[in-house]
Amino acid sequence: MKFTLITGASSGIGEAFARKLAEEKHNLVLVARSEIKLLELCDELMLQHQITAHYVALDLTEFEADKKLFEETQKHGYEIEWLINNAGFGSMGDFAQLDLERELEMISLNVMALVALTHRYLAIMRTRKSGVIINVSSTASFQAIPYMATYAATKAFVTSFSEAVAEECRPFNITVTAVCPGPTETNFFAEANAVPFSAKGMQTPEQVVEKALKAVKAGKPLVVSGLANYIGSVLGTIAPDSFVTRAIGTYLRPKLKEKKK
Ligand SMILES: NC(=O)c1ccc[n+]([C@@H]2O[C@H](COP(=O)([O-])OP(=O)(O)OC[C@H]3O[C@@H](n4cnc5c(N)ncnc54)[C@H](OP(=O)(O)O)[C@@H]3O)[C@@H](O)[C@H]2O)c1
Repeated sequence: MKFTLITGASSGIGEAFARKLAEEKHNLVLVARSEIKLLELCDELMLQHQITAHYVALDLTEFEADKKLFEETQKHGYEIEWLINNAGFGSMGDFAQLDLERELEMISLNVMALVALTHRYLAIMRTRKSGVIINVSSTASFQAIPYMATYAATKAFVTSFSEAVAEECRPFNITVTAVCPGPTETNFFAEANAVPFSAKGMQTPEQVVEKALKAVKAGKPLVVSGLANYIGSVLGTIAPDSFVTRAIGTYLRPKLKEKKK
């Protein structure tokens, strides 16, 4: 039986992917740490859409978590046709003062788990000559972001990696799409301990998912969600790096000082 595996499915964009794809009759394997949320979501989606939904409660930053997840899906015979690498988090603050362990954990989740899961499931997709991989990146991937230094760097990796693998997969009927949302109404900002961000102008997770699924259907390797985000990302790439980085730093520095008070 074919399944779509979604990491970070217990809230935000991952949950929105699960809801939308359940509507489209995908069978699901949902992954995150919050077991109760996953259990309730699986029950709800199975009842509502007559699909099969399983969950694996797992911390993807743990040693060999990707191997454990892969073996679990193999053991049960779940044929992973779609892989959505969505789990991720950010942090905001002066890099020198941020908690080092948390920064390394971010690299482990946003980058290492994504690469490992892509590698494991891609091998099977390649022999089957079919599959879809969606990697949730960010508009943060298009420029360095002072005070979100590690996060922006992890997402730059995700965008670059996805575009390269997408090209390698073209002869194999496998679509790889990097999805770049801008600010979206989820738990992300609270988790990142970010400066308060006005909800005005933010997208909903459902809008991000709609854009992502359209891009997958069109076989696009990269998509930015939202017109304003798209314009911002184009400007971010054509303006000189030194100018963009300085402008962001100058904008965020006083905001962070204010937040500390
Ligand atoms: N919201 C935005 O403004 C925005 C913008 C651009 C890109 N993004 C990207 O979108 C993706 C989804 O984030 P979101 O905005 O939907 O935020 P969110 O609501 O905080 O969702 C993050 C998801 O990741 C899971 N997760 C976190 N740590 C994990 C771990 N160690 N192991 C397994 N799962 C873990 C969380 O579940 P548990 O806590 O249950 O583990 C949750 O399901 C992230 O990659 C983020 O970087 C978000």
